[in-house]
Amino acid sequence: MSKKIVFSGIQPTGNIHLGNYLGAIKNWVEMQDLYENIFCIVNSHAITIKQNPNELRQNTLNLACTLLACGIDIEKSSLFVQSDIDEHPALAWILDCNIQMGDMSRMTQFKDKSQKNSKNINVGLFNYPALMAADILLYQADLVPVGADQKQHIELARNVAIKFNRDYGKAFKIPEPLIIKESARIMGLDNPQIKMSKSVKSPNHAIFLLDSNDEIERKIKRATTDSSSNIIFDENRVGIYNLLSIYELLSKKSRSDIEVEFENKGYGDFKKALCEVVINFITPIRDEYLRLQNNKDYVLNILKDGAEQVKPIAKATYDRVKELVGLQ
Ligand code: TYM
Repeated sequence: MSKKIVFSGIQPTGNIHLGNYLGAIKNWVEMQDLYENIFCIVNSHAITIKQNPNELRQNTLNLACTLLACGIDIEKSSLFVQSDIDEHPALAWILDCNIQMGDMSRMTQFKDKSQKNSKNINVGLFNYPALMAADILLYQADLVPVGADQKQHIELARNVAIKFNRDYGKAFKIPEPLIIKESARIMGLDNPQIKMSKSVKSPNHAIFLLDSNDEIERKIKRATTDSSSNIIFDENRVGIYNLLSIYELLSKKSRSDIEVEFENKGYGDFKKALCEVVINFITPIRDEYLRLQNNKDYVLNILKDGAEQVKPIAKATYDRVKELVGLQ
């Protein structure tokens, strides 16, 4: 039996943080043997927010280095850049013509992002989910591993695919989101009421995969907890729960073992142990990232090969869609 197809994407909009890693990349890496994998650096999505062109180019390459350093294995996965495949915006247009304004207007990420970028509420930002649907549907993906914040977008992709297949004839597989509950929503260290996000600029909000050991220690030391002292997994105590979840996911210990480990200990001891786990996790990624940074041509070639591998799949879907709607 052929393997199921996994597709996922990530924006090259700056440093990757622990939320991106635990919510998405870790799952991509761990599932590589089980599925046929296609991972995409979605630079066309990134320009829905104003970008400096040179920085965007640089961030795209840096993100490729980061993903490879995290363990994306090109023997098992295709890695490519969205703008290298013209079928993404082309299919997005056809999907745009099959998505109702009312359905698009319900997207909470648009509401959130347009509040944060009130000076640049462009049409691309509004249509962002159609391009995301095109990404997924072009490759006939079965599964889309993401954090919880992307669930609504994948539902929209499913709905437009179902409607299109019904209205014109079967063109798309209907994708399922793959959201791992424990890592679906990593929260900000300084403010555990909001999800960890690249766009929050306060200095102790997110741990980035390329942070130095000193930065990691500072951020964890200052992370918000509460006035209780027992260290247990209690979802109502959002700060300590978030830190414990990070510890659980990176140490791979069970919740009960962790609670026993810190039974008669305080937040200081726990934070020290968390620092150690995070630093041990990040150190080899940072080292490999720096090695890849010195081999840029090697990384650019990987992206070029990735685009060549996936192009025929995208073209086959798009050609069928064009024919079904009468555009060829
Ligand atoms: P992006 O680039 O914002 O984030 C990449 C992935 O990281 C997850 N994530 C989180 N998970 C848990 N906790 C957090 N605090 C956290 N912050 C981010 C995101 O859910 C995502 O899985 N729209 C997408 C990119 C995209 C895409 C696609 C994804 C474009 N096309 C097609 C899947 C399939 C985005 O903005 O991700």
